[in-house]
Amino acid sequence: MQIYLDYSATAPTRSEAIAAMQGVFTQQWGNPSSLHEWGQRTATVMEQARMQVASLMNAPDPESIIFTSGGTEADNLAIMGVAHLYAKPQHIIISNVEHSAVAEPVRLLELWGWQVTRLRVDAKGRVDPQDLKVALQDNTVLVSVIYGQSEVGTLQPIEEFGKIARSAGVLFHTDAVQVAGRLPIDVKNLPVDLLSISSHKIYGPQGAGALYVRPGVELVPLLSGGGQEKRLRSGTQAVPILAGFGIAAELAAQELLTETQRLMKLRDRLFSQLSDIPGLLPTGDCTHRLPHHVSFCLEYADGEKLSGKTLVRQMNLAGIGISAGAACHSGKLSPSPILLAMGYPENAALGAIRMTLGRETTEADVDWVAMVFRQVLQRLSPVKLVVSH
Ligand SMILES: Cc1ncc(COP(=O)(O)O)c(C=O)c1O
Repeated sequence: MQIYLDYSATAPTRSEAIAAMQGVFTQQWGNPSSLHEWGQRTATVMEQARMQVASLMNAPDPESIIFTSGGTEADNLAIMGVAHLYAKPQHIIISNVEHSAVAEPVRLLELWGWQVTRLRVDAKGRVDPQDLKVALQDNTVLVSVIYGQSEVGTLQPIEEFGKIARSAGVLFHTDAVQVAGRLPIDVKNLPVDLLSISSHKIYGPQGAGALYVRPGVELVPLLSGGGQEKRLRSGTQAVPILAGFGIAAELAAQELLTETQRLMKLRDRLFSQLSDIPGLLPTGDCTHRLPHHVSFCLEYADGEKLSGKTLVRQMNLAGIGISAGAACHSGKLSPSPILLAMGYPENAALGAIRMTLGRETTEADVDWVAMVFRQVLQRLSPVKLVVSH
C-alpha cells in the first residue's frame, strides 16, 4: 500500500486537467498572440483559463490575473515588480515565516541597500497586526505576509494586515499558494493589492501560477520582450498548461466547501490519533489553520540519529510520503528556520514533520499512517517513550 501525504509539496494533476491539456496540445496549438484563426482559437482557450482562475479568487476583472510559471515567479514579480519602481532603496515589511519565494528576493533587496523589517511571529506562527502598525515607516512601499504557512499550516489575519497597509497608503501582497483551492479567497472584498497562487497545489499541472494585480497597481516586469500578459510577463504563454490550470481552478472552486470540510475532519482525526505520543508536539495554530495540514516536531530529535528527515525516510520505506520541515544543505542538516522563528529550540526544529492531506486521502489512510508513524517512532526513539495503541 502506498499513501501520499505531501499535498502541500505538490498534488497530482487531476484527470480533467490532463484531458483539457491534451485537447489544447492537439487542437489549439497556435500562438495566442497571432491574429489568424489558429492563434485566436488558442487565445480563446487562454482567456477562458484566465476567467476560471479569476473566479477562484473572486476577481471581478479577469485582466487582473497575470499568468506566470508558478508561485515562485508570482511572488518574485510582486516583490521585485514593486521594488523596481523606485530608483533608490526603500523599506519593505515581511514576516519571518515567509516561503523562500518571498524571503529570498527580499534578501536580495537588502543586499542592494533596502531596509527590511521581518515581523516576529508568536509560538503559533502568527504575526500581531499591532507589530505591523509599529513597523510602518514613511518610506515603506510594500508589505508582504504569507496567507497560509506551508510548513506549520498557520493562517495569518491578512484582512487586518491589508487594512493597516491600505490606510497607510502602502501596497499589500500575500502569498496564497497554500490557501488557494482550500479556503475561499475573495480579492474583491479583501484589501489585498497583489496575491500569488500556483497551479500544481490545486491539482493543475506544474509550471503555472498567477499573480492577481489589483487594477491600477503598477509593477515593473521581470521579463521584457513581446509584451504578453499586459506587458508584465513577456514570453509566449504555455497555453496547454494554462488550460489545465484553468480547469483545475474551476473544479477547485466547485468542490471547495465540501472538500474543505472533509479535509478538516481528516486533519483533526490524524492530529488526535497522534496526540498521546510523548515528545511529539503539534506545531502551528490549531484554530487558524490550513484545512489539510498536520504538522509536528519531535522534542527529542537530535539530528544525528533522529530528525524529521530520518522519519521521512523511514515512512518512505513503509510506502508513505510525508515531509520534514528541516532542509538539508550540502549534506548538513539544518533546523527549520520557521520553527526557530516560532521560538522552538534547535533540536526540536530538527524534528519537524509535515503531513498534508488531499483529494485522494481517506479515513483508512489516516488511520494507517498514524499506526505506522507510531511504530516507526517506537523503533527509533532513544527511550521507549511511545505508548503502543
Ligand atoms: C507558500 C508557497 N509559496 C510559493 C511556493 C512556490 O510555488 P511554485 O512551486 O509554484 O513555484 C510554494 C511551493 O511550495 C509555497 O508553498
